[in-house]
Amino acid sequence: MTARILVMPGDGVGPEICREAVRVLDALASDHGLDIELEEALVGGAAIDAEGEPLPPASLDAARSADAILFGSIGGPAWDDQPRENRPESGLLRLRSELGLFANLRPAILYPQLAHVSALKRDIVSGLDIMIVRELTGGIYFGKPSGMHKNANGKREAFNTMRYDEGEIERIGRTAFDIARARGGRLCSVDKANVLDVSQLWRDVMNEIGREYDDIELTHMYVDNAAMQLVRAPKQFDTVVTGNLFGDVLSDAAAMLTGSIGMLPSASMDANGKGLYEPVHGSAPDIAGQDVANPLAVILSVAMMLRYTLKRPDLAKKVESAVGYALDRGLRTRDIMDDEKQIASTQEMGGAIVDMLR
Ligand code: IPM
Ligand code: MG
Repeated sequence: MTARILVMPGDGVGPEICREAVRVLDALASDHGLDIELEEALVGGAAIDAEGEPLPPASLDAARSADAILFGSIGGPAWDDQPRENRPESGLLRLRSELGLFANLRPAILYPQLAHVSALKRDIVSGLDIMIVRELTGGIYFGKPSGMHKNANGKREAFNTMRYDEGEIERIGRTAFDIARARGGRLCSVDKANVLDVSQLWRDVMNEIGREYDDIELTHMYVDNAAMQLVRAPKQFDTVVTGNLFGDVLSDAAAMLTGSIGMLPSASMDANGKGLYEPVHGSAPDIAGQDVANPLAVILSVAMMLRYTLKRPDLAKKVESAVGYALDRGLRTRDIMDDEKQIASTQEMGGAIVDMLR
């Protein structure tokens, strides 16, 4: 059956990196029998400019009916003074929520070729392979009540609510246990149970379902300690599961361990294997349109799509090895550049991957 893939390039470097990812998909279709159909839709600032809102109804409908979504990046200074509900970010949050994409998978893998680009010492990061599983449709990002008003003392007051029910915790917990089982068999749940009630419930539920996964080693860590351990001794982690806000922060920290956020893909999955695939990096407006952005994160996001939605692990491996070969050959975009290597533009890097796939 033909899989329908919706491409949402978005803003900043999004369009130029998505172009390279589409070339990769086209190569897989023409040379490796991948049966896909591509469509494109507006999102983020590009959608605000064209339609007045960050997630127009036509884009949401197209996203609903697609089997998988390839997402570039959104946001930029041009839309920073939009009211919150009309900011580019709100479009992405709504997409996650409307499609029920509750499980955000963010691998932090260090390519051996890039070990010296990491800000950390080589022996601390070499061989690093962590999977952060972040809850994506609940917690303080979506909890009600939230808002801003004048309080009884006439002061402006703002509030958000960190809220999880046990069903939401169990759902992300099971996903994370299953992922840990397919990896190193260890799961670290990150919370703030020494302070927050919502974290105590999180921890209780993780322990309860942990009893059904007695082949998985479950540990717990407070989020402040987890931030420290990630930069002190990151290889102690295999799979990490955490809530929306903590996962947002920790996944950026983990990304930097690998040398460049320009290398990291992600998947946001619903309960049925549908996913939105996007690079972890943002829209990088400062380098947009210059053909210097690293397309490898979005290309590796295509690999995740092949594995998790299109059920073609063979092609996922092909794409991942092509990325490895490109690095072996010394190709480097600016963000991962060092002296002896060959500088590659966005298109040259994408082209090298495509050549290797053909
Ligand atoms: C991310 C981003 C988003 C988030 C923003 C753009 C809404 O930081 O995907 O990590 O906070 O989830
Ligand atoms: Mg983030």
